[in-house]
Amino acid sequence: MKKAIVIYCSFTGNTKKVADHIAGGLREGGCDVTVLSVKDAENVDLLEGYDLACFGVPSINWSIPKPAADYLRKQFNDYIKEYGPIQPCTPVKPNRKALLFCTWSGPHTGVREAVPCMLSMEQYFQHLGFAIVDEWYVLSEFVGNIANSTLGRMGDIRGLPTETELERITQQARNIVVCL
Ligand SMILES: Cc1cc2nc3c(=O)[nH]c(=O)nc-3n(C[C@H](O)[C@H](O)[C@H](O)COP(=O)(O)O)c2cc1C
Repeated sequence: MKKAIVIYCSFTGNTKKVADHIAGGLREGGCDVTVLSVKDAENVDLLEGYDLACFGVPSINWSIPKPAADYLRKQFNDYIKEYGPIQPCTPVKPNRKALLFCTWSGPHTGVREAVPCMLSMEQYFQHLGFAIVDEWYVLSEFVGNIANSTLGRMGDIRGLPTETELERITQQARNIVVCL
């Protein structure tokens, strides 16, 4: 049985919902899945033992939020301690695949408020030799801020992600299992 881990950071629940639906889809596809919030994943080594590592955050000030950035930095430092400096051209290592996801609201400048966050996550994973299976941007309500949820660049985003969108995410996650 293929093994997957889903690690997420979530403050108001959007990213957790996406993480749970990704986990559900992977299970439907036949994977053994562990889901952990980043604070419970402190001692989890992403590099060993998983056919797929999924990692998701909300974009906060267009960056990776601190608890997730600290986790990724630790993985990076631990890797260098164990294997030495990152090799030139950072070859993809066998059995290292990652799916990255980012929830975002884009009230001020739209998706450009999420892209730097995703690209920064992507760089951690690519430097550690992961092949990126996919990167999912999930437009989500800015919970607790009515102006940013109704008057922003993305219009009225209350209630996002909807059940329909979450079901689509489940199906897409199930489809990923065939490439593991
Ligand atoms: C302090 C703060 C800063 C935020 N900064 C951004 C941002 O730079 N870009 C963006 O698209 N959304 C931003 N958001 C919105 C969140 O990324 C979005 O609502 C996300 O889905 C929240 O995820 P969570 O419910 O898992 O915490 C911000 C939200 C907060 C509370």
